[in-house]
Amino acid sequence: MALSLTTSIALATILFFVIYKFATRSKSTKNSLPEPWRLPIIGHMHHLIGTIPHRGLMDLARKYGSLMHLQLGEVSTIVVSSPKWAKEILTTYDIAFANRPWTLAGEIVVYRNTNIAAAPYGEYWRRLRKLCTSELMSVKKVKSYQSLREEECWNLVQEIKASGSGIPVNLSENIFKLIATILCRAAFGKGVKDQKECTEIMKEMLREVGGFDVADIFPSKKFLHHLSGKRARLTSIHKKLDNFINNLVAEHTFKTSSKTEETLLDVLLRLKDSAEFPLTADNVKAIILV
Ligand SMILES: *[C@@H]1O[C@H](CO)[C@@H](O)[C@H](O)[C@H]1NC(C)=O
Repeated sequence: MALSLTTSIALATILFFVIYKFATRSKSTKNSLPEPWRLPIIGHMHHLIGTIPHRGLMDLARKYGSLMHLQLGEVSTIVVSSPKWAKEILTTYDIAFANRPWTLAGEIVVYRNTNIAAAPYGEYWRRLRKLCTSELMSVKKVKSYQSLREEECWNLVQEIKASGSGIPVNLSENIFKLIATILCRAAFGKGVKDQKECTEIMKEMLREVGGFDVADIFPSKKFLHHLSGKRARLTSIHKKLDNFINNLVAEHTFKTSSKTEETLLDVLLRLKDSAEFPLTADNVKAIILV
């Protein structure tokens, strides 16, 4: 399922507010949240087909309230659409909702969900959080990302300006490329030999990872994951990424660290063998993909 940039962004936003709760085998009767009418097997998926997901969800929420239940295939989901409930879930009871849903993309691409976004709540997760506050998202680092973003946005503006009048510019494509470039630069720095290759891999990854997939709403139906071709595509992306990062890490060990700005990779490799944040090679590669 190819998704446009806007759809991917919309989905990412929705996923943020949609809290998954895995369906339990026993038919729970405790669930008494309002919900629209459902079909067998697909549950409520048909309410979202043909709509832009965030709009479709908004229309449903208008009818069924700011706390409603949706059955998406095998996955039981609670959709939260008011600031009050969002605060309860994301702040007051965030620990209870700290686990992320299983996705095929997380499983294959990011080393069995060991990255920051998907890691299950627990010891490893707490270590990652500490790593974030003390290293990856420190004030200094966040400031350095800002100038990086500004520079790349400026480049895009210049590029559009230079493209001449009368020629249409595909803004979706350009913004997608912009995001991929920023990710590459934050992770590996400006000096990456093959910036273009990195951007291409990131673009491919963003496309595949974004959005709903049949594999994610039917986690137990393994044959569907093969049938949709998703597993094969994700495995191919994972291999490319893994190779790419391996090469960078290999180069990195020969380099003397005389650079002005530490990239994410620099930070992680510095910490890898430290006593405070021991990480495996795969951990480093997963975390760098955030
Ligand atoms: C613009 O780029 C997007 C993303 O690559 C693509 O899906 C779309 O078809 C392109 N639109 C045009 C008019 O070329």
